[in-house]
Amino acid sequence: MAASGLLFIGFVLGHMYGNLKAFAGEETFNNYAEHLREFGEPILPHEGFLWIARVGLLAALVVHVTCAVILARRAGRARTVKYVVKKNTHSSFSSHWMRWGGATLLLFIVWHLLNFSFGKVNVSNGETGDPDKNPYRLMVDNFDVWWLTAIYLVAMVALALHLHHGTFSSAQTLGLTGTARARRNARAAGLVIAIVVAGGFSLVPIGVLAGIID
Ligand code: HEM
Repeated sequence: MAASGLLFIGFVLGHMYGNLKAFAGEETFNNYAEHLREFGEPILPHEGFLWIARVGLLAALVVHVTCAVILARRAGRARTVKYVVKKNTHSSFSSHWMRWGGATLLLFIVWHLLNFSFGKVNVSNGETGDPDKNPYRLMVDNFDVWWLTAIYLVAMVALALHLHHGTFSSAQTLGLTGTARARRNARAAGLVIAIVVAGGFSLVPIGVLAGIID
């Protein structure tokens, strides 16, 4: 779970960085999207790098979800009798949200791929044209529709909570929380990663809403 989670953290950091190119304008953003498709050529075929990343992410997702189900079952078996009094003393809000937050993110990812990648669902009345040639317009037209923007912003809250606890959890699994100081550092890392990734992703829809990106 920790290893696949760390791979996702690397991916979302890279994806978020790429999205911020929307602030540099249509040409820069679309050039970046095209470079991703040409990356590694001529050693790799066109879109070769993208396909390696897709297969790797899909494999990591299968591992991550399978581990989550196994762990949830194990936790259920470990306590067959419910607590009479259940008081929350130490655990954070985000740690309670891992299952529902994870399921929310899974739903979001399915929508997101239909929306921008495989399906290119576009419900706006914008000027998207051929979305294969213009991912920038597809994205900006999408965020011109308030409820589509709302879906993304709610998903970013779920992502922040998931990253906040997930980063700490993976540090724990890897044996990096042995001392009080190390635990504090792991918590701080979780907070920073959650804010940077979810905040960075949110800047683009907010930028469209504010008319800075159009
Ligand atoms: C506000 C947040 C986000 C925005 C604006 C956004 C935007 C985009 C866009 C425009 C594309 C298509 C890129 C292209 O065609 O070149 C894309 C693809 C993708 N995004 Fe996001 N994204 C966001 C968040 C996320 C998150 C949180 C995840 C996963 C945890 C994610 C996973 C993916 C994946 C897997 C692809 C498919 C790449 C491919 O195989 O074509 N995105 N995103």
